[in-house]
Amino acid sequence: MIRFYFTMVLVCISPLLICAQTTDMDAKIRELMSRMTLAEKVGQMNQYNGFYEATGPAPAAGDARLKYEHLTSGKVGSVLNVRGVDEVREMQKVVVENSRLGIPLIFASDVIHGYKTLAPIPLAEAASWDLEAIQQSARMAATEGAATGLNWTFAPMVDIYRDARWGRVMEGAGEDPFLGSKIAAARVRGFQGDDLSATNTLLACAKHFAGYGFAEAGRDYNTVDVGTYTLHNVILPPFKAAAEAGVGTFMNAFNILNGVPATADAFLQRDILKGDWNFDGFVVSDWGSIKEIAFHGAAGDLKEAARRAAIAGSDMDMESYAYVKHLEELVETGAVDEALIDDAVYRILKAKFELGLFDDPYAYCDNEREEELLYNEKHQEIALDMAKRSIVLLKNEDDLLPLAGNDQKVAVIGQLANDKTSPLGSWRIGSDDGTAVSVIEGLAAYEVNMSYAQGPALWRGNPSFVTEVEVNESDRSGMEEAVAAAKEAEVVLMVLGEHGFMSGEGRSRTDIGLPGLQQELLEAVHAVNPNIVLVLMNGRPLALPWAAENIPAIIEAWQLGSQSGNAIAQVLYGDYNPSGHLPMSFPRSVGQVPLYYNHFSTGRPTNQENNVFWTHYIDEKNTPLFPFGYGLSYTSFAYSALQIDDTDPNAVEVSVVVMNTGNRTGEEVVQLYIHDPAATYARPVRELKGFEKIELSAGEAQTVTFRLTPKELGYYQPDGTFVTEPGTFNVQVGPHALEGLQGSFEWE
Ligand code: NOJ
Repeated sequence: MIRFYFTMVLVCISPLLICAQTTDMDAKIRELMSRMTLAEKVGQMNQYNGFYEATGPAPAAGDARLKYEHLTSGKVGSVLNVRGVDEVREMQKVVVENSRLGIPLIFASDVIHGYKTLAPIPLAEAASWDLEAIQQSARMAATEGAATGLNWTFAPMVDIYRDARWGRVMEGAGEDPFLGSKIAAARVRGFQGDDLSATNTLLACAKHFAGYGFAEAGRDYNTVDVGTYTLHNVILPPFKAAAEAGVGTFMNAFNILNGVPATADAFLQRDILKGDWNFDGFVVSDWGSIKEIAFHGAAGDLKEAARRAAIAGSDMDMESYAYVKHLEELVETGAVDEALIDDAVYRILKAKFELGLFDDPYAYCDNEREEELLYNEKHQEIALDMAKRSIVLLKNEDDLLPLAGNDQKVAVIGQLANDKTSPLGSWRIGSDDGTAVSVIEGLAAYEVNMSYAQGPALWRGNPSFVTEVEVNESDRSGMEEAVAAAKEAEVVLMVLGEHGFMSGEGRSRTDIGLPGLQQELLEAVHAVNPNIVLVLMNGRPLALPWAAENIPAIIEAWQLGSQSGNAIAQVLYGDYNPSGHLPMSFPRSVGQVPLYYNHFSTGRPTNQENNVFWTHYIDEKNTPLFPFGYGLSYTSFAYSALQIDDTDPNAVEVSVVVMNTGNRTGEEVVQLYIHDPAATYARPVRELKGFEKIELSAGEAQTVTFRLTPKELGYYQPDGTFVTEPGTFNVQVGPHALEGLQGSFEWE
């Protein structure tokens, strides 16, 4: 294993300076490693969760004392969830000043979509299809995270998933590997920049490698069993894109994949990641996932789990205590080759060098910077901009939106309208509860003539990150008052959806309609005043067929972060023209999931003979309620003049003219899909292979051109071989997956 590094360093050819630096770093790492005992090496592979107030006294007894002694004796390489400059500085000091070699810790946390200032949840950001904005948002998160002493974020989550029951859909970029890959790379660039030692960047982590998003029945942590065809074509591409963008670390996953716990999977971690992809960063386990190898039933005890994980390429143990307890002995008895330990430690030390921690272990500990950056106006502006771009207009009958102005009497209904916490989502990290701008506050800034009635409560008590949300299913108090308020108003603004802790880790649902009494409330209000704008606040696609049929205007506002209410108000009153498009299909019924646009044809795709023997349900359509890529604007766009130029043997150019046919400036996400109708392996009925977000003023037209190369036209066969096959390809260019101009070309 270690030989790999010699190759890597020697083949480094240009620019010469970088080569010299790399060689220099390599020499330093080797020199340091030559002085490390086996126990110290294993220590670098051990990560603990924060276990005491580092600014207070050292723990005197118990488990915390033992962990503290591990800090002072060089048996910890990294900690997570220790945050704040003072805390970080003190803990770093304990290690640097007391351990024999003084190797600094890396401080990690889940800085997912901001730290103190929160941008929208990642699924919402993905709806912007705006790579620059997403990159900027990740940089803002990194700037704040690094200002608080952190060096490493456990983001981006690049899992692809197709099941809205799974609560963690909020943390990724949706169902599509092409969009997911672009966003993965943008987020990596945003978090890491081009200098990891800069104090406005964080080491990023592509997670969860791999397959976590395919948990059976959408139940978190559940079994994953997918063939290698899906693995290579759907699950792995965003990970590969993250690796190519230079992501410094990977996190493996809780799930088994085809019988092998991902944490113990050498095929994934050694063959693909560190082999085929030449990934030279390190892999951290997920929380306790080495220990869980035994719970899966794939190891008899913790020691065996440690052995399997180390051999499979899991370089750092997050909170399993497996390596710190057993790895030294496993090496001494020959059960694990020491070269594997050296390989892991080299990777971890390299990250520490790149972060600049060997030059200055306290480089990220500056109280003034922390103060300045955590309460920062500019970051609030970035969060607001991102929030507006993330909103998706789903329906707007008779141009009910934008609203007329502050003379119009508006009744605002729903507990979420007044909630300053749910918009922060479930990863609210350094931000405080109650710090988001609520919808009510956003509207107040517009001096809207409004009344507010909460209606029946959606949740009870004060839900937290670790507890189940108690949904109110029975207490109807507030219903009458809400109906009365609706009667009095010209327009009713209903803010409905999910509490912020109803999506995220450990928060799967079987019913993805409006929880609690909200559907009943919606229908009761509709009965007295159908002039309703429904603002959805949720962390996953919801199945809302009744609302889609009966409510004239619907806005998908996700969980939009600190500036949520301001962004929503600006869209409602037309100061921002919505431009978001769905990164995940919205089903009609939970019975349709997994539902995704890039499905296969099946052998019986249509009803040919007017009988039941074709692929369908007897009680529901096959199509989604709102398809992947869908999103409206306050203006309209027309597509024309599809042209295909296949004269270049190495690429095909597809162009289309897009015109703004409405009367205000707007942005459109122009999407290109392909289909290979006759391949060796059946290909999906359509696959996104290009998109461009353009802004057009009223009446303006623009030609948008896409270039398709073998990279876009090819696919992975089940053994992982990438092929581009000759023959006919169909293309479709339009505003979403199910609509567009169509053409075809021959690829030779
Ligand atoms: C478990 C989650 O699966 C992972 O994404 C997260 O980074 C770790 N916990 C650390 O908080």
